[in-house]
Amino acid sequence: MARSFFLLYSLSRRRVSDSLRSLFFIPTALALTTSLFILFYISSTSTLFTSHQHRNSRLHFLQKPNGVSHKSHNLQTAIGNQPQSSPDFDSPIPNLGPTADPGGAAKPSPSSNGRTVEDETVFHDVEIFKEDYIKMNMSFKIFVYPHQRSDPFANVLLPVDFEPEGNYASESFFKKSLNNSHFITKDPSIADLFYLPFSIARLRHDPRVGIDGIQDFIKEYVYNISHKYPYWNRTGGADHFYVSCHSIGRIAINKADEVKRNAIQVVCSSSYFQASYVPHKDSSLPQIWPRLEDDPPNVTSSERKNLAFFAGTINSPVREKLVDTWHNSTQIHVHSKHLNTSYETALLDSKFCFHVKGYAVNTARIGDALYHGCVPVIIANHYDLPFADILNWKSFSIIIATLDIPSLQRILTGISNDEYAKLQSNVLDVRKHFRWHGVPVDYDAFYMCMYELWLRRSSIRVQLS
Ligand SMILES: *[C@@H]1O[C@H](CO)[C@@H](O)[C@H](O)[C@H]1NC(C)=O
Ligand SMILES: *[C@@H]1O[C@H](CO)[C@@H](O)[C@H](O)[C@H]1NC(C)=O
Ligand SMILES: *[C@@H]1O[C@H](CO)[C@@H](O)[C@H](O)[C@H]1NC(C)=O
Ligand SMILES: *[C@@H]1O[C@H](CO)[C@@H](O)[C@H](O)[C@H]1NC(C)=O
Ligand SMILES: *[C@@H]1O[C@H](CO)[C@@H](O)[C@H](O)[C@H]1NC(C)=O
Ligand SMILES: *[C@@H]1O[C@H](CO)[C@@H](O)[C@H](O)[C@H]1NC(C)=O
Ligand SMILES: *[C@@H]1O[C@H](CO)[C@@H](O)[C@H](O)[C@H]1NC(C)=O
Repeated sequence: MARSFFLLYSLSRRRVSDSLRSLFFIPTALALTTSLFILFYISSTSTLFTSHQHRNSRLHFLQKPNGVSHKSHNLQTAIGNQPQSSPDFDSPIPNLGPTADPGGAAKPSPSSNGRTVEDETVFHDVEIFKEDYIKMNMSFKIFVYPHQRSDPFANVLLPVDFEPEGNYASESFFKKSLNNSHFITKDPSIADLFYLPFSIARLRHDPRVGIDGIQDFIKEYVYNISHKYPYWNRTGGADHFYVSCHSIGRIAINKADEVKRNAIQVVCSSSYFQASYVPHKDSSLPQIWPRLEDDPPNVTSSERKNLAFFAGTINSPVREKLVDTWHNSTQIHVHSKHLNTSYETALLDSKFCFHVKGYAVNTARIGDALYHGCVPVIIANHYDLPFADILNWKSFSIIIATLDIPSLQRILTGISNDEYAKLQSNVLDVRKHFRWHGVPVDYDAFYMCMYELWLRRSSIRVQLS
């Protein structure tokens, strides 16, 4: 099992154009040696799969897949008649074994190493994070390909001059925050990364492009910048990134192979087992429904009279299973029709709020739950959760495998008041990392994304003659 993940990992590592391949001999040999060493390590210890202390470790990601699979019609349903060129995993995935910890998080009962939720901290390692953050904040520079207001596609390429709204606001907020941040440089020679500023959400609604034209637009955009500027060719796009929140982003880059294979994709629909997303190369963008109020209400656990809450369209087998199992429950409130109370009230009245995979692994519900101080319960197998290499999700959420839906009530009622109080206070601590601001604020969602990009910056540059 571990071997196949490593193959997957090695195969999907950044590839640079053929002419550069010979330069990769040494790193490849090193990588091979390291892989062999790690394989040996895996075979000699089983606690690896329950340990979460390996910051930045690729292995951190390997523990996430669990033995569950389900049919998903994401692409077809989400984007209509597009060819399904990167289907989600349909066939059963072998289980990592009984020690595997689904979703990288545990039920808050003591685990094999005796840790309880009360021992968990919000950051994997807050010291390393703070130290790196300061370095990142002082030195990180981004070059944005420049476009004029008069460009016919200014609406797609420039930051919006209004407050972004709706389900996919994260994409617009990122661009706006970047534009208003100190990370921008006009001098490409000092840039760490290059930003491809096209907005996939806006292309989708632009009648000149539309869903059917996005792939060609992006191919042409990359053609244009790689002919007009020397930067793309130096790395085959490996020091470039784009940002997209709509799930169409996954196929939008299908005609621009180098974008898919080399560039850093900062996307909301970040799932393992999806042909276009590579967790160690790409980065998960939190999907956040923007809220203008500055102070989210603080409602304590004793004021939350309902155990758990979900509302949403039943558009996936996982949601079907949730509703089928719990629609009559008086403790676990699941709504597939319109709500009797307001959505916000329900989030404030509940101890736990479900995020359940729909068409894609991501929805705005995690952000909604955090904002309202409700502990998220995440049922979305293979979701590469936002900032998972920085934040310790099991300190502020409950991650549950689809297979465990029938045990939900037992799991949630098994959480003691003290454990819940700790989870909820961590929710209040992390929610600032899941907020956007037009002018970015330290440690907000924008800065966290910058930190993830900084971790992924590369230093290989080759001048082709
Ligand atoms: C990050 O940089 C900005 C701009 O220089 C500065 O205002 C802010 O205090 C810095 N944050 C930290 C944590 O150093
Ligand atoms: C982008 O940044 C420029 C220069 O700082 C500023 O003049 C402009 O108003 C910003 N645009 C938006 C939409 O925030
Ligand atoms: C590429 O450049 C051409 C010529 O400048 C321009 O007409 C076209 O709109 C550009 N396409 C994209 C996608 O940027
Ligand atoms: C980048 O590479 C392409 C394809 O090899 C080539 O056509 C183009 O001229 C190069 N761009 C620059 C700026 O040299
Ligand atoms: C749920 O309640 C409905 C009537 O309200 C009943 O017909 C149905 O059998 C119940 N389902 C389960 C699984 O208990
Ligand atoms: C809403 O739910 C409450 C409690 O379940 C119930 O008493 C009330 O009649 C419901 N209102 C509507 C409009 O259905
Ligand atoms: C809510 O709780 C957070 C975290 O404890 C605190 O920082 C914030 O000031 C509180 N807000 C209000 C309105 O009490």
